[in-house]
Amino acid sequence: MRLLLAAALLLSAASYFVYLPLPSGVCEPWKLMLLDALFRSVIQASDVAHSLGLCHHVHLLNRVVSWVEDTEARSCPAVHVSDSTLGGVPARVFRAKGGAELKRGIIYFHGGGWALCSGRMRSYDLLCRKMSEDLDAVVMSVDYRLAPEAVFPDQYHDALAAARDFLSAEVLKRHGIDPERVCVSGDSAGGNLAAAVAQELGSDDSLTTRFKAQALIYPVLQALDFHTSSYQQNQAVPILYRPIMARFWLQYLGADSSLVPLLLANNHSSLDQPAIGADTRSKLNWTSLLPGERRKHYRPLVRDTGSPGLLGELPALMDVRAAPLLAEQRVLGRAPKAYVMTCEFDVLRDDGLMYVKRLQDAGVPVTSDHYEDGFHGCMVFAYRPMVSSVGRRSMNNYIRWLDQNL
Ligand SMILES: *[C@@H]1O[C@H](CO)[C@@H](O)[C@H](O)[C@H]1NC(C)=O
Ligand SMILES: *[C@@H]1O[C@H](CO)[C@@H](O)[C@H](O)[C@H]1NC(C)=O
Repeated sequence: MRLLLAAALLLSAASYFVYLPLPSGVCEPWKLMLLDALFRSVIQASDVAHSLGLCHHVHLLNRVVSWVEDTEARSCPAVHVSDSTLGGVPARVFRAKGGAELKRGIIYFHGGGWALCSGRMRSYDLLCRKMSEDLDAVVMSVDYRLAPEAVFPDQYHDALAAARDFLSAEVLKRHGIDPERVCVSGDSAGGNLAAAVAQELGSDDSLTTRFKAQALIYPVLQALDFHTSSYQQNQAVPILYRPIMARFWLQYLGADSSLVPLLLANNHSSLDQPAIGADTRSKLNWTSLLPGERRKHYRPLVRDTGSPGLLGELPALMDVRAAPLLAEQRVLGRAPKAYVMTCEFDVLRDDGLMYVKRLQDAGVPVTSDHYEDGFHGCMVFAYRPMVSSVGRRSMNNYIRWLDQNL
C-alpha cells in the first residue's frame, strides 16, 4: 500500500517536472529522472515548510522517508532480525540462520548526508538482510544520531562507540562473530563515517581485534574543494546536486547554510588561508591524484583571496575525523585493506578516487570498483519500485568482494 502510494506520488511529481537533460551514458535515464522529480518535489515542499516556520526541512524529509520506508525488525526464513544497541547506539542486527557457528561480522553505516535516513529503512534493511544471507554473516546497521540535533563530532562519536563495542570480545562472542573476519562499511555519509572509524581504530594499538577490511560505497571524504572535476562535471546531475552536498556539510559541521555560496566558490580554501599548508593541499590535489581520464578538460579552482576567517570559525573543515581524505599517510598505511565503489555521474566520484590513490600510496591493498554508468545513491535503489540495473550490479559486486576478501 505504502509502495503504491509512493509510486503514485512519484508519478504525479514527475508530471510537474518535465524533462531533465541528463548526461549520455547514465544508467536508465528515465528512472533517474523520476527519482529526481520525487526528490526535488519533497525537498522543495520541505524547504517551503521550513521557510513558513512549520518545521525544520530535515524533519519533514525524514518524516516522509520513514513513512514510506520504515520497517519493523522482522525475521525471515534465512535471517534472524532484531533491534538492539551497540555501544549505547541503536542498531539493527541481522544474523544468518544455520550456516557456520562462527560468522563473518560487518558493521554498516547508512548514508543520508549525516541528517537523513536510518538502518530501519526498507532499502537498508533489504541490503543488510541480503549481505547477511549471502555472506553467512552478522550485519549490524547503526542508527547514529542525525543533524540538525546532532552535529560533528556526534555522528562520528556514535559510529566510533558502536564500532569499538562491535569489536569487543563480549559482543563478538555473544553474536558468534569470527574476530578474524570483521569489516566496517557504509555508503555516502556512512562511507565517510566508516573511513574515519577505520583510520582511528587502525592506529589503536590497544585493540585485540581489528577490522580486516573496509568497504566504502561512494563515500564523501573532503569539504575543501567543491571544484574537483567530478563536482564540476556532475553539478547538475541528480540526485546529489553540488549545492545540496555543500548544505549537508554545513549542517553536519553545525554551520549556517547561508555559507553555501562561499563553499561553492572555494573561498574557504583560497591561498590566503594560513591554516592550509602545501602538505594539506597535496592530499586533495586532484590534478596529481587522478588519472587523466577522470580529470578530463576540467581545471582546478584555487583562489588567491577568499574568506580567510572561515577556517577559524569552522576548524572541522580540516579535521580528519570529518574529512578522512586529509589523513596523514602513516595513518592511512595502518588502515585495513579497502574496497571503494565510485560512480562516474556523482559529485563525490573524485573524493573516492583520490582516496583510492592515497591508500595505494600508503601501501594498503585497494579494490577500486568504478561504474561508468553509475550515479550517486544507485546501490540503495536496487529494489522495487526504484530498481536500477547499475544498483543491482554494484550491490552484487560489493557482496562478491566481501565474500572473497572477508
Ligand atoms: C597540484 O599538483 C600539480 C602537479 O604536481 C601542481 O602543478 C600544482 O601546483 C598542485 N596544486 C596545488 C594547489 O598544490
Ligand atoms: C569570495 O572571496 C572574495 C574575495 O575575498 C569576495 O570578493 C567574494 O565576495 C567571496 N564570495 C563569497 C560567495 O563569499
